[in-house]
Amino acid sequence: MPEFIGQLPTNEPQWNSISSVETLQPHEQGIDLKCDGNRTLSISVLAPNLIRVRFSPTGDFIPKRSWSVAIADEKWDKVPFEIEKTEESIDIKTEEILVRIQHAPCRVGFFQKNTGRAFASDTDLGIGWRDGEVACWKEIQTEEKFYGFGERTGLLNQRGKRFTHWNTDCVGYDILTDEMYQAIPFFMSLSPQLNYGLFFNTTYKSQFDVGANQSDILQLQTQGNELDYYLIYGQEPATILKTYTQLTGRISLPPRWALGYHQCRWSYNSEAEVRTLAREFRQRRIPCDVIHLDIDYMQGFRVFTWHKQRFPDPKQLINELTAQGFKVVTIVDPGVKYDPEADYQVCDRGLANNYFIRDKQGKLFHGYVWPDRSVFPDFLRSDVRKWWIDLHKNLIDQGVAGIWNDMNEPALDDRPFGDSGNKIYFPLDAPQGDPQERTNHAETHNIYGLMMARASREALDQLRPETRSFVLTRSGYAGVQKYSAVWTGDNHSLWEHLEMSLPMLCNLGLSGVAFVGADIGGFAGNATPELFARWMQVGMLYPFMRGHSMIGTNQHEPWEFGTEVEDICRQYIELRYQLLPYIYNLFWEAATTGVPILRPLLYHYSCDAKTYELYDQVLLGESLMAAPVYRPGIEHRAVYLPEGTWYDWWTGECYQGSKYILAHAPLAKMPMYIRGGSIIPLAPVMQYTSESPVNQLRLRVTPGMGRYILYEDDGNSFAYRDGLWSKTTYQVNTEGEQVIVDIQARRGNWNPASRQIVVEVLGKSEQEFEDDGTARRLQF
Ligand code: GLC
Repeated sequence: MPEFIGQLPTNEPQWNSISSVETLQPHEQGIDLKCDGNRTLSISVLAPNLIRVRFSPTGDFIPKRSWSVAIADEKWDKVPFEIEKTEESIDIKTEEILVRIQHAPCRVGFFQKNTGRAFASDTDLGIGWRDGEVACWKEIQTEEKFYGFGERTGLLNQRGKRFTHWNTDCVGYDILTDEMYQAIPFFMSLSPQLNYGLFFNTTYKSQFDVGANQSDILQLQTQGNELDYYLIYGQEPATILKTYTQLTGRISLPPRWALGYHQCRWSYNSEAEVRTLAREFRQRRIPCDVIHLDIDYMQGFRVFTWHKQRFPDPKQLINELTAQGFKVVTIVDPGVKYDPEADYQVCDRGLANNYFIRDKQGKLFHGYVWPDRSVFPDFLRSDVRKWWIDLHKNLIDQGVAGIWNDMNEPALDDRPFGDSGNKIYFPLDAPQGDPQERTNHAETHNIYGLMMARASREALDQLRPETRSFVLTRSGYAGVQKYSAVWTGDNHSLWEHLEMSLPMLCNLGLSGVAFVGADIGGFAGNATPELFARWMQVGMLYPFMRGHSMIGTNQHEPWEFGTEVEDICRQYIELRYQLLPYIYNLFWEAATTGVPILRPLLYHYSCDAKTYELYDQVLLGESLMAAPVYRPGIEHRAVYLPEGTWYDWWTGECYQGSKYILAHAPLAKMPMYIRGGSIIPLAPVMQYTSESPVNQLRLRVTPGMGRYILYEDDGNSFAYRDGLWSKTTYQVNTEGEQVIVDIQARRGNWNPASRQIVVEVLGKSEQEFEDDGTARRLQF
């Protein structure tokens, strides 16, 4: 937590600073500049709003790696730009921005093309380097606020902090924690005048100082040998994210079941316990789609095995669960038990083929995790990933539907667990990667988890090619969204952690990671009934909705807290299932444009300064806003309604926005509002997502003006890629007292099951008809 204890004077070596530009060499996408001999600054225009800046003090750039998360420069369509040279500078102009490189001293500045407003411009310090490190200093304008930064604790705006990018098992994390499970060196700067994003393309240990050391200076610093960042200009946060996710990838459309409720605990310990759990859900009529099996399903924590006594017949168990509508997700950790005498194939094969990490001298590296002494696959190597993918057969053949990757920072100790050891990593000089792009752990540490998640994803894609895959990972790096969903690790059953979960997930969403969730109820510690009820309400909003709790804590299933809480849990899980068509649509949007599913208000109201620090209200998509309660004993809370008209979800009461209201929120009620001019599709409650076809689709419409495109497909296969999808455009218009809902003819080749459509206009009436896919106009 360096920003909180301040910076003590150090004897760190001084930075060398780039001085003047000597030669200019244009290339297809921009220019290369030589400064002070061979030092090279390279600027590339990849899109009208996307500039890549690289600087190498030696003139050598890191070669492109096959695992690099940013797509190659050549993949971008060539865009026009102009180069203009003057006495003082070289200007590169795109349609949207001007990049000005001042000659002496060499400094890079960015300007909005139309207004000339400067942003992210180098300060007097410019670009510097010293002994294996490179840094760059940029101006922060007074009004700038900073969001994103991947998985970060605290509230929304992260200005004034210093962040280290070094994946860590940050067990016991809190609001001051710096190094987290995931390092995502991307942020978004918003101000009333101008918005931009910056992706620091380094997997080495790196830092952002966002005005911590000096309030008006942003510092990027990496222990890699070059500076490499992508600057994204965007009128709106959505534009920035669209470009950022074009660069690093987007989520793929998940199977619909993954959007249902997931139940987990460390650990459901036996087949009998899992059967009872499943029965409880169905008997109590609490919807649930997924049961997660934590580490105890394995034989002595050996990955890709099943415990012989406690899970003797996983296939039969999963068959039974499948018949009741459950999917099973199993945990897979990277640590392989070092067990050479025990006929444990995973260890034997890995050793025989030299798949595990070794130190620089070639000695096998050991660390301690759940299975005690363990060895670790080098997921950077394609042959290792291929082997790991095949190992998943032992899970998938039993019917496992999804894979949960944990401890992949990697998390390991130097002594057996429980022996109060120290956390260690692989030696930084341990070689990793394929022979032709061999590097070392200093460069790959932050992507170890990412590459593991990639292997899991490819395992599911390859071994079960007919259905969509679900992977969940604790560790990751920028671009993790293209392989996996992410949860925020070991949170606590504390009100503060409940409160922090939404800004954390929102910042992850603003970093391109849309499929995210936190453990409902808190992982460590015991939730009170009140906390659990409030958490389930909030959890209903998480894109990934899972209840999970730690071994040794009280049971945390929804019925463990008395009937009142059980009823509240049922009500909110049911609401989640009703909202599924709306939520599924948000996943489709995220998959096609990179937008977050859960959004802070500033995402849609970036011109309203009141939203910049508003961390305790969220938008689920554009239309639905929630203002949860995060403290015990609270029955009322202030709610900010941004401009426009808002309707109370529960009562239909109408409010004019741009003001605060006091909402009544007794335990059973999480205040929720629908924006005027919205159309929200709702399905009937089901016990699991595929229980029966949606035979009634309810469109909850609020008066105002708005348009909504409903995307639908079979929710499970890849047929949508061959055109088996449908889109229906709905439009609401209001003229005086009259509300008109226009439904356009359904497009696309997928036909939903026969169903009734009920159009319900809040505060008016409802009309229904059989959905034959034709256009119609309804008046209210
Ligand atoms: C880690 C995970 C947690 C899991 C536990 C046991 O602490 O974060 O979710 O239950 O390991 O596998």
